[in-house]
Order: sequence, then C-alpha cells, then structure tokens
Amino acid sequence: MPKLLRPIALLAMCAAPLAAVATVTVDGQTQTNGTTVTFTKDIAPILQRSCQNCHRPGQMAPMSLLTYQDVRPWVRSIKQRVLSREMPPWGIDPHVGIQSFKNDPSLRQDEVDKIVAWVDAGAPMGRAADMPKPREFDDSAKWHIGKPDLIVTSPPHTVPPEASDWWGSYVVPTGLTEDRYIKAIESKPGKTAVVHHLLTYAVEGDEDADSNGDDSNAEAGEFLNEFAVGKNGDVFPEGAGRLLKAGSKIRFDFHYHAVGQETVDQSQLGIVFYPKGYAPKHVEYSKQLGQPTEPLDIPGGSGFVRSDGYQRFNRAGKITAFQPHMHTRGKRQCIELIYPDNKTEQISCVDFTFNWHIVHVYADDAAPIYPPGTVLHVISWHDNSANKINPDPRNWVGSGNRTIDEMGFAWISWYDLTDDEYKAELDARKGSKKTLTTTASPGQPQ
Ligand code: HEC
Repeated sequence: MPKLLRPIALLAMCAAPLAAVATVTVDGQTQTNGTTVTFTKDIAPILQRSCQNCHRPGQMAPMSLLTYQDVRPWVRSIKQRVLSREMPPWGIDPHVGIQSFKNDPSLRQDEVDKIVAWVDAGAPMGRAADMPKPREFDDSAKWHIGKPDLIVTSPPHTVPPEASDWWGSYVVPTGLTEDRYIKAIESKPGKTAVVHHLLTYAVEGDEDADSNGDDSNAEAGEFLNEFAVGKNGDVFPEGAGRLLKAGSKIRFDFHYHAVGQETVDQSQLGIVFYPKGYAPKHVEYSKQLGQPTEPLDIPGGSGFVRSDGYQRFNRAGKITAFQPHMHTRGKRQCIELIYPDNKTEQISCVDFTFNWHIVHVYADDAAPIYPPGTVLHVISWHDNSANKINPDPRNWVGSGNRTIDEMGFAWISWYDLTDDEYKAELDARKGSKKTLTTTASPGQPQ
C-alpha cells in the first residue's frame, strides 16, 4: 500500500488544473482565448452530449436543457452542479487511476471552465446561426439489441403523484429450462420519467432473494445489466458471454421517484442468447467482491471510517466494469490491484452518492488485466456525520441489509484469461499509451 497523501496535498493537486482559462475584459465580456463564450456556439454542444439524455421532456431530470429559453433560468444552479461535479452523475475521481471508459458522460476541465465563464458573463445567447442542429434521440420503445429471445417483465409498480423516493426490488422467474449463454442484454423502463435507476441481477432458483429493498445481501445473485439513460444495452464481444442458469430468476432493483402525477411502471429485461449448446470462449462474471474483512463499526458523528476487503484471483483475467456499493453514508470507494510481486496499482476511485448507482465500464484497451495470484483490494469510506444526507448522525451504524444499515463492497465484472492470453495482451499494451496515473494514492475523502 502506498502511503496516503495528506488531504492538503490532494487539495493542492486538484486545485491546479482549475486555473481559469477565462479572462474578463473591460466591457465585462468574458472571453476564452479572445472569443466570447456564448450559448449557441460553446455551451449547447456540451449540453447536447452530456445532459440532454436526462434533461429533456419525459425523462427523469426535473427540467429540460434543450433550448436557450429552457436553460436560462437554471444557469446559476448549473454552474454550481458542474463545478461540484455532481452533474452529469458519474462519480469517478478524475485525478486517480484509469480514465478511459465506454460510458463516461463527464465534462472535461476545459468544458467546466467554459460553463463557469459563460455563467459569470451573464449567460449570453450568442448568434442564432451558431446553434447546433437539435440532437436526435434513439427510440426508447425499440430493442436496440435486436429481437430478444427472452423478455422478463417486472410487476406493475404505482408511483403516487408525490412520495419520497422508493428503493426496492422485484424477483420474477425467467421460465428458462436449460442453461444458456447471454449474447446481448438490455433493460427498458416502462415510464422513463419515474425510473431513476434500474439494475438487473440473475438469482439462482433456490436463492429466493426477495430482499425487501435490500439490493445487496449475500444471495443477491449476479449482476446482469444497468439501465442508464441514453444507453442501448450491452452486446458482449463475439466469443464472450454470461451464463444464465436454468430456473434462474431476475431481480429488478429499482429507484423510483415521483413526478407529480400518478404513474404506473412496468419495466422489461430483454435477452438475446447464443445458440443452444454453444459455450463462449470467455465467460463474463459479475459478483460482489471485497466485502469488509471485519463487520462495519461506524460510530455516530464520525467524519469518515475506512474499511478494507480483499479478493484473490487464482487465474489471470480482465476486469471489465466496476460499480461501488454502499448505502446512504457511503462517501468514497477505491479499488486497487496488488500483484504477485506486491506492486500495487490504483484502478479507480469513486466519490459515492446513494442517489446514483452507476456501472463504470472500462474501455477495452484500458480495462485492467492481471496475472494469476493478484489480489483485488476494495477500500470504502463511510461518513456518519451531519454533513452527509444521513438518517440520524447520532446513531452507531453497522453492517446490515436494510437501507439504514451500511455496506461496502464492489460489484466487479471480469473474465478469466489463459496465461497465454494474458501475456499476449500485456505485450500488446506495452509501448502503447499509458492509461494509468501512478502518482495518486487512494486518497482520503475530502
Ligand atoms: C443520468 C441523468 C442526468 C444527466 C446525464 C444529467 N442530469 Fe442533471 N439532474 C438529473 C436528475 C435526476 C436531477 C434531479 C435530482 C438531483 O438534483 O440530483 C438533476 C438535477 C440537476 C440540476 C439541479 C436542478 C435544481 O433543482 O436546481 C442541475 C442544475 C442539473 N441537473 C444540471 C445538469 C447538467 C448541466 C448536466 C450536463 C452537464 C446534467 N445535469 C446531466 C439527471 C441528470
């Protein structure tokens, strides 16, 4: 384990890239490299890429960010949310570990700077002619993975006009009578406005994990798919697949929220299988790894409490995705790999919010690979102070399944490699651009 950097050093590191690119001239116009930052020219393209998936009519976000008129009343709030990196929701610490993902909507530092400069300058619209063409959105009624061989539907869930958020799960049988390998998979909410998130898991026949809102007990099954707005399902690379066992059930984990009118949702999971009897070369697993070695012991009012968990991989492999799992007091989670020669490498850190359960999918050429005997180290921090949205900071909190209890493990997706495959991939990466930063430690939450 590398020594922890002191928080002050981390702060300094993070502050450096913030040096503003904008300068304010005498007439009050804000400029970037000599040109005025305007909505139509500079800001609209950023919103189209990173915000409009959710911020448009009919989707989960509270307001539309499609036009200048839509955006204008929100500019101060937008500045604050992009500066704090709460929007778009992503969580990956941009200063640590791998930064190359398949599903990263986050803003580059220069884009954040642009938004701030624009808001500070009074949010000018600019020339109408500079406005980019409106973005076209995929038809959410359509299956993007092709016609599914199996569709599993969740029971109707009524979201009242006004209610607090609902976290919970439904378990539905698949009716599958033989083992089959999944080729492609997609989750599709019925009413996108009320489905804040939806994650699906395979639960084996006798583990009836009707978990009463607990998405994380030991029998929680195997992660299958995440619905994320703007994402069109997972198609596994040719020759890679995920096993769905005969008799499996599907657990749908929902976060529903109210939108001012009664809404009934029924969501679906669609699956395309490989042909019967076909066994893919690589079997993709997703499991809960790195459970804390000791039960969590988090005193009331404590600012942050660290826990550690470990998982040894007996075979070589490749980690394809990472999703931290904690409850409301979860603050930060980091994963690192301890190689057989005891060298340690930072993989990712996430600043966690219970509001968002995001699966971070590594880009193929950046996904961590490791030799046999490597240990995954999961480090979680909990904040049980009043600074955090907290059911009651006076209470001691321990491990448990209820939302008011705590957890700290990682959902990891990976597949095994043969020693030859590992070596070939390692050689192929040598000399290619380095994708890891090696300077940062796990860091303490700030
Ligand atoms: C994955 C969906 C999603 C994406 C992408 C997203 N948002 Fe949001 N946004 C939400 C939801 C849901 C809320 C309401 C809950 C909350 O406040 O966190 C919200 C809230 C906000 C708010 C607070 C509104 C208020 O009440 O003051 C702002 C501002 C905002 N988003 C701006 C943005 C901007 C700017 C982007 C792109 C850079 C963006 N969002 C991307 C889903 C999203």
